[in-house]
Amino acid sequence: MFERKNTEARRIPRHIALIMDGNGRWAKKRMLPRSLGHKQGMERMIGLLEHAFGLGVDYVTLFALSTENLQRPKEELDGLYDLIRQHFAESMERICSRGVRLRVIGDRTLLPKDVQEILQDSEKKTLSYEGKGLNVALCYGGRAEIVRAVNNAVKAGTSVTEESFSKLLYTQGQPEPELMIRTGKESRLSNFLLYQAAYTELYFSDKLFPDFSDEELERAIVWYSKRIRRFGKTDEQLETEKK
Ligand code: IPE
Ligand code: IPE
Ligand code: MG
Repeated sequence: MFERKNTEARRIPRHIALIMDGNGRWAKKRMLPRSLGHKQGMERMIGLLEHAFGLGVDYVTLFALSTENLQRPKEELDGLYDLIRQHFAESMERICSRGVRLRVIGDRTLLPKDVQEILQDSEKKTLSYEGKGLNVALCYGGRAEIVRAVNNAVKAGTSVTEESFSKLLYTQGQPEPELMIRTGKESRLSNFLLYQAAYTELYFSDKLFPDFSDEELERAIVWYSKRIRRFGKTDEQLETEKK
């Protein structure tokens, strides 16, 4: 199931990053509590992961909770932690059991202790897997990730190159995301993967995350397939290189 299912019109990215935004608005529209929006979002997330890995995507990085989100009301955060306790670990383990390495990225020490343990147990079960990965960003901030990497370099007393610096990031050893999708009608990065997304194609969807279907994901991939990735060069140069 893991072979990349490329067609003429569809080039499957190796790494997709996903900003899952709009759960709260989805719930509000239905006069439901925000927590139900997050529950619906979590279910959609699981479906999307199965679809993405089924299409042959190698790496998925999910933005599940930002450093800034920690300022939200305690009740909302407790609801999110409960979702991790009740559903997340089990579902992630099922998805990852087919050879996907699970990594929780971000400052996990900001999570409740028992949640940290649950996540660590799930990660441990996938330690031996290589070549496929699921990164779940929790208490994650792109600037914090960069500052952490800088401090590690300073501690080691070394200067860095772009290549060696990328090895100090949570995503070390993984290809950079070719495609980043943000749902929920906003067109910003909100501090996600600031270093890794330097050349990522950015796709903004008006769908609120619980409404972002498998077909919407395929639409984003088709859109990505039509992009000409020049990396600073001219079209003529790209044509010559193809020959
Ligand atoms: C994204 O949905 C999920 C998290 C940030 C945890 P939001 O909760 O930001 O949903 P909106 O933007 O309020 O609709
Ligand atoms: C970004 O969504 C973070 C996640 C999806 C986890 P936010 O809803 O927190 O983003 P802003 O605050 O609107 O930029
Ligand atoms: Mg939001």
